[in-house]
Amino acid sequence: SIVFLNGSYMPMDEAKISPMDRGFLFGDGIYEVIPSYDGKLVGFAPHIERMDQGMDLIGIKFGYSQDEWRAVCENLIEKNGGGNLGIYLHVSRGTDSKRFHAYPEDVEATVFAFVFEIPAAPVADKAVAKAYKVSSTEDLRWKRCNIKSTALLGNVMHFQQGYESGNNEIILYNADGEMTEGSACNAYIVKDGVVITPPLDHQILPGITRLMLLDILAKDGSIKVEERIVTMDEVRNADEIWLTSSSKEIAPVVELDGQPVGDGQIGATWEKAQALYSAGKY
Ligand code: PDD
Repeated sequence: SIVFLNGSYMPMDEAKISPMDRGFLFGDGIYEVIPSYDGKLVGFAPHIERMDQGMDLIGIKFGYSQDEWRAVCENLIEKNGGGNLGIYLHVSRGTDSKRFHAYPEDVEATVFAFVFEIPAAPVADKAVAKAYKVSSTEDLRWKRCNIKSTALLGNVMHFQQGYESGNNEIILYNADGEMTEGSACNAYIVKDGVVITPPLDHQILPGITRLMLLDILAKDGSIKVEERIVTMDEVRNADEIWLTSSSKEIAPVVELDGQPVGDGQIGATWEKAQALYSAGKY
């Protein structure tokens, strides 16, 4: 595939960075994944805004404008033949001459982007949708989960825990037994027709799919939404559980820790919400 590295497009196997890059040595960087279906980017502006906020939070000075990022995305889509793609954008603090923890002065950020195939956006139909199975475990990541850091070891270890036990994802909860999110997605329950998801704070990533979904549901008004603490007791007694991320949109969960969620079938509220999301995403 064709990738973008520090201003140039090149085949993946020609893209080279130094092993002294702080992204490699420290996981010192910020990333994004933006979905694109048949050339149409989803959530482009909020994705770039979140990336800019992340770089501000960790003091990386790198200033591509929205137009410059859009050109990178559109060029990569075109050079790689389009289709359904996830566009990965990555800015690390850059390559230093020494391994020293402090932020170096006068080092240029490393910018890298590539694309990967993603499944077609889900169709809002219980009969054909992919049903997810998840496990759960205590969230052992750090206290800055609102930063979309390339240092993903905590997420990777949690995902692996779920994967090794035959699950598609793993739902995480804090020491107080409150759901935070999935290892690579946001999490929701549905109870008596109400969609409930944890509020934005340092324990979760402010997902762009979450942002758009809550916006679309609020505008439509037919499904009630609450942003509040969700206990694992509530999760285990939920009628439905959903996960959202850029590459899966809204994923319906039918099994949690080997137990059926609700009646064990994909729920009616999921179908309605996914239909609204498919029509309203921007
Ligand atoms: N994951 N929470 C975590 C920990 C995530 O890694 C992600 C995204 C989300 C959902 O965010 P969004 O809706 O903006 O994709 C929530 C990406 C896709 C990944 O790392 O592959």
